[in-house]
Amino acid sequence: MNLAIKKRDGIAVVTVDNPPVNALSQALRQDLLTAAETLDHDSDVQAVVLICAGRTFIAGADVNEFGKPPMPPHLPDVVARIEASRKPWVAAIHGSALGGGLEIALGCRFRVAAASATLGLPEVRLGIVPGAGGTVRLPRLVGPALAADLVTTGKPISATEARSQGLVDALIEHDLEDGAVAFARSTLQHTLPLPLRERAVAAVDDGFWGTTTKAVAARSKREEAPLRALACVRKAAEVDFDAAMAFERETFLYLRGSSQAAALRHVFFAERGAARPPELAGVRARDVRSAAVVGGGTMGAGIAATLRDAGLPVILVERDESAVARGLANLKSIYDGAAKKGRISASAAAEKIGGVTGTTDYRALADTDLVIEAVFEDLDVKRQVFALLADNCREDAILATNTSYLNPQEIAAEIRGQDRFLGLHFFSPAHVMKLLEIVPTAGTAPEVLATAFSLARILGKIPVRAGICDGFIGNRILKVTRAQAERLLLSGATPAAVDAAMRTFGLPMGPFEAQDLGGLDIAGFQRRAARGRGETPFAPIADRLCEMERFGQKTGGGWYDYAKGDRTPQPSPVVASVIAEAARGLAQRDWSEEAIADCIILPVVNEAAAILDEGIALRATDIDLVKIHGYGFPRWRGGPMHYAEYRGLNDVVDRLEQLSRDGLATPPCDLLRRAAKAGGWAEINQG
Ligand code: 3HC
Ligand code: NAI
Repeated sequence: MNLAIKKRDGIAVVTVDNPPVNALSQALRQDLLTAAETLDHDSDVQAVVLICAGRTFIAGADVNEFGKPPMPPHLPDVVARIEASRKPWVAAIHGSALGGGLEIALGCRFRVAAASATLGLPEVRLGIVPGAGGTVRLPRLVGPALAADLVTTGKPISATEARSQGLVDALIEHDLEDGAVAFARSTLQHTLPLPLRERAVAAVDDGFWGTTTKAVAARSKREEAPLRALACVRKAAEVDFDAAMAFERETFLYLRGSSQAAALRHVFFAERGAARPPELAGVRARDVRSAAVVGGGTMGAGIAATLRDAGLPVILVERDESAVARGLANLKSIYDGAAKKGRISASAAAEKIGGVTGTTDYRALADTDLVIEAVFEDLDVKRQVFALLADNCREDAILATNTSYLNPQEIAAEIRGQDRFLGLHFFSPAHVMKLLEIVPTAGTAPEVLATAFSLARILGKIPVRAGICDGFIGNRILKVTRAQAERLLLSGATPAAVDAAMRTFGLPMGPFEAQDLGGLDIAGFQRRAARGRGETPFAPIADRLCEMERFGQKTGGGWYDYAKGDRTPQPSPVVASVIAEAARGLAQRDWSEEAIADCIILPVVNEAAAILDEGIALRATDIDLVKIHGYGFPRWRGGPMHYAEYRGLNDVVDRLEQLSRDGLATPPCDLLRRAAKAGGWAEINQG
């Protein structure tokens, strides 16, 4: 049994207990249906409280069942049965009431909640729409505007907000069960409100649907579910309850089988898998209660903000007093920006800034649990910093570098206590980007690695373990993206065509626009360093633009030209002639958007497969997370590895062979061929 029933003086308390998150498995649906039947016929029972054991109320349908044929009883029938009950049901919510969980609560006559609870319909995050009346009952309770917002964004709201919007009938301050039972008893004194199916949807202003549709379309771009979710809410406002339910169900079943839903489910499980690497099972993480950042530049300030957002006190170390002041000003501008956009109150911003102490004195770090270094990308400078840290920090303090390209092993080579050292590679802006590459060295203790993963969770980051190579996982793949983009230019495509094709594929920006935004100089510097090491990076056109000091928007021109004060990229005749010069004698062709995307994405998959083969990434899913959370790869495509597998690895191999025959890519690597033969990434032994 996934639920237990007890009686408290005429009030039945139905306690759902289906760990970890009380998801609505087939067995639980059956138990709820049976409970509704039984309690309706129990003359001792006047009202029912539905409450959950464990960390949360029902967090939704069981996502594990989504790939399988639907099994009765179906959730809409369970909700309908609860709604039709002869006794009032009261949902008592703690943790999260999400998706099917909220739909069950909407079937109840009342909802009460702990103030810390959240409620939402996050189905669009999984590429679907609510499938058990969420889009039909919610607008009947809170009106179409809030319902449309909740179902199209998938964002949950707090119980306090839900209370003010009428989604929750009462907030319970102390014991939830006691409070809910008392509330249930109190309802017996009054006439019951109508069940939601019998209520009407409030009218909306003229033009509401048109304006909202435009806004949702602009926001969701090529994601299918948000607009369809909006269509369901609109249907609920325009037709009767049963017709709206039928429309929602049809939409739900269609989307459940879609490629976008498969991709988003893949990402859902990949994210949860990433947070708990099996190789660290049973290894205890240390507590991190205080942190320091060395270097208050772009990255240091962002990392300090991330740490503050998680409530940790932070010490910011810089090389001199004026740099300390600059570092603190960088941090302040992050929070001022957030306050200006209304994301944070002025007082909360002041509290965050106040929690950072700036200093030049490493002795201030004597009792700090974790130090993250983000100084210049220079081996000697970093080594000096770590020597000071080793001398001044506690022996069990964890010491991390945020280097992008240097070898953490070399940075740590001379410090005492190498077991507490590792790379923590944040992405810019560090307080926004979710990806955190965790880079252990040969000497990193498992406990320190486990602490890095638990830190990621505290910081709300997606952790991915990366091995040591030039660029770790993400930046190594980025180099391939850029090289392929240049190969396309040499064979007839324009920068604008390449960027447009990648936007059509789903990226927020094409590779050339992105370089103009970030600046071409940093990569140019990396290439010079690589050549110094005897490597041969491929970037003939970018090299030429760097020689011309066309570094991007900041110099008024890069891959594109920019008018003063205008960030709109304009095709550049100068760049066109650089390309023509570099492409002289090479075969030119017409490129379709699809062919352009293939010429970039498939070599990315090939490089990713090589990264897997070398053990730089442990799982294909980790690479998907790197690309989604660090580089804007569309979540609804599931990441490059999922995309390749969904499309068919044999097709990927064939296309890559063709590209390689045309001199436009390297041939498929051994692991990619093996995965194609085996039928998937998970099917091969990755050693
Ligand atoms: N189904 C199955 N398993 C689920 C699940 C679900 N809906 N939600 C979470 N889990 C599992 C996770 O996979 C994880 O399993 P693991 O321990 O084996 O890795 C475990 O529960 C804990 O999850 P988290 O690590 O995410 O735990 P948190 O405490 O950080 O977060 C949560 C809890 C807020 C409930 C979060 O898990 C969450 O947001 N879950 C998704 C909720 C959701 O999307 N619900 C809608 C489902 S679709 C639906 O209901 C359709 C309906 O309209 C018909
Ligand atoms: P930055 O130049 O903006 O900031 C570096 C800061 O370090 C400066 O404020 C400088 O005063 C300080 N500093 C230099 N030497 C110091 C010392 N000895 N002691 C204390 N402070 C010192 O550089 P940025 O961009 O923040 O990069 C920092 C590190 O983060 C580099 O290793 C870089 O490769 C890495 N990184 C950068 C990313 C980016 O997009 N900018 C992304 C991810 C990592």
